[in-house]
Amino acid sequence: MNGGGEAAEPHARKKFVVAKVEEIAPGTSRCVDAGGRKIALFNIDGRFFALADKCPHEAGPLSKGAMVGLSLADVPGDYRLERSGEFVRCPWHGWEFEIATGQSYCDPVGTRARSYDAKVEPGAALAKGPYVAETFPVSVEEDYVVIEI
Ligand code: FES
Repeated sequence: MNGGGEAAEPHARKKFVVAKVEEIAPGTSRCVDAGGRKIALFNIDGRFFALADKCPHEAGPLSKGAMVGLSLADVPGDYRLERSGEFVRCPWHGWEFEIATGQSYCDPVGTRARSYDAKVEPGAALAKGPYVAETFPVSVEEDYVVIEI
């Protein structure tokens, strides 16, 4: 019996190596596969972010959307653009989502694109596995984008 308030075992997440860093230039995006899931992977000034490649409106491909900024205005007709390239505009009907969080600004409570953790890891670290057997020299010098689901 568990009467001590122990936390439940956290759900184990899987890592997927989805692309070489050099394949996705800053300011661009592409669709990658992570264990059968389509993921929209974005590079914002060298930082990588991952959203489900399925718009919450009608499933448009967010990886094909334009990376845009946030238009703000204090008074009508006096607009300014901030946070250039930090939002994606769905190519089907134009809904926009914050790439880092998946947050919709048109419906912040009810609409969000699903986001995943994306990070860069050196190939040498990814080449290590949990088992040790006969060894051979291996060199992986490039960096890779890894998504955890
Ligand atoms: S499917 Fe994305 S805005 Fe409609």
